[in-house]
Amino acid sequence: MTFFWSSWITLLSFACWAFILGILLMVLKYKPKLEDDGTTGHAYDGIKEYDKPLPKWWLVIFFGSIAWGVVYWVFFPAMVPGKWEGLATVEVDGETVPWTSKNELYSDLESNNKVFTDNFEKNILAQADASGATSTLTELAKLQSARSHSENPPADLQTKIDGKVAELAPYVEKLSENPNALKVGSRLFLQNCSVCHGSNAKGAVGYPNLTDNDWLYGGAPENILTTLHNGRVGGMAAWRDQIGEDGVRAAAEYVLSISGNQQDYELDQTMVAQGKAIFNQPTNCVLCHGNDAKGMISTGAPNLTDKIWLYGGDRETIRETLRYGRAGVMPEWQTKLGNERIMLLAAYVYSLSDKTAQPAVASTATSATQSAVANTAAQPAATETATAN
Ligand code: HEC
Ligand code: HEC
Repeated sequence: MTFFWSSWITLLSFACWAFILGILLMVLKYKPKLEDDGTTGHAYDGIKEYDKPLPKWWLVIFFGSIAWGVVYWVFFPAMVPGKWEGLATVEVDGETVPWTSKNELYSDLESNNKVFTDNFEKNILAQADASGATSTLTELAKLQSARSHSENPPADLQTKIDGKVAELAPYVEKLSENPNALKVGSRLFLQNCSVCHGSNAKGAVGYPNLTDNDWLYGGAPENILTTLHNGRVGGMAAWRDQIGEDGVRAAAEYVLSISGNQQDYELDQTMVAQGKAIFNQPTNCVLCHGNDAKGMISTGAPNLTDKIWLYGGDRETIRETLRYGRAGVMPEWQTKLGNERIMLLAAYVYSLSDKTAQPAVASTATSATQSAVANTAAQPAATETATAN
């Protein structure tokens, strides 16, 4: 509560008490003159006024509520703005902290979450023969708690956390074959992910299709887990200032010439040649998209030699991408959903994805990072049409 509202309530409460106390004292002092028949002499419509003490039950309630007010005052941060935290406490993240409405909410969320994680461990993990994940999850939670409690976490802490996340990958694979886990995963997906990736996970312009075998950051369980835990930011700078509008048009023409859309256009071969030179300069496009232009999961740069487009593969859209750059943002989910839900989501996404590796096409060269992950190879024609253009 802000200082103003806290003071406002304090003032109102004291004013109210002073008023009631005043009336009480006034009534105690006031002794009416009584007539011989014991009444005050006032009568109205045949009703006569006596001077009798207040009924016991009424007094008990009256003084009881004053006592209740005092107890409340002591237990909760009611009075003295910002100075009195109250005796009441709640448990948040293993620590006993003073009661505030916010802390109470966190505490409730935690206990609800505990119900979820207990059920996750006892039912889902056990059923999927993945109970081995429990100890890793406990260690991961400890590391994450150390990270959130430290202002300056040691440099290797994040590396350790990423390592633990990677250790969960085999269990995610097991979960991806368990119908129960997938049912919960699909619900979590609809609640959290469908706004961007669509309820069928097939994506939209700027939001990747998760059901194919074309991945910006890799489609193995380990890659998907890392994407969900930490989030991703796709960074493709604007190129117009660097290579000029002519350079943009040339590079776009070259991209078209190597892409799956090449047969849809009559290409200007001079521009293609100029574009190729721009593309292959070591500090330009090859830096992120790779020498074979098939993308790299370490940079999140997409494969440009297929028919799958994140933003669009027509000439004008490619020019637009090069002129102004692109920066797709995948939010992080670790702090919002926690490790257990992320495992279920990763399992669900992995279960949807197309795991067929792709027969070598066009270029035989594959970047080292790509060949490390079986799922990152380019895709067979059948799945290509599924992507939004
Ligand atoms: C606010 C929109 C948004 C939401 C919500 C969102 N994503 Fe994403 N996601 C993106 C964007 C944008 C990218 C691509 C990032 C880039 O361009 O580099 C992405 C990328 C991904 C990738 C990597 C795909 C690849 O090709 O490597 C996965 C996996 C993924 N999201 C899964 C999920 C899951 C699961 C959820 C729900 C927990 C989710 N996303 C929620 C926007 C979103
Ligand atoms: C710093 C790394 C980097 C460099 C250098 C780079 N790109 Fe990209 N490029 C990316 C990333 C990352 C994306 C995906 C952006 C996103 O996810 O929002 C991308 C996206 C694209 C796309 C959109 C593909 C689609 O599916 O819609 C095209 C086309 C493209 N780049 C072409 C180029 C060309 C041509 C150059 C050289 C002039 C270049 N890029 C240089 C990282 C880079």
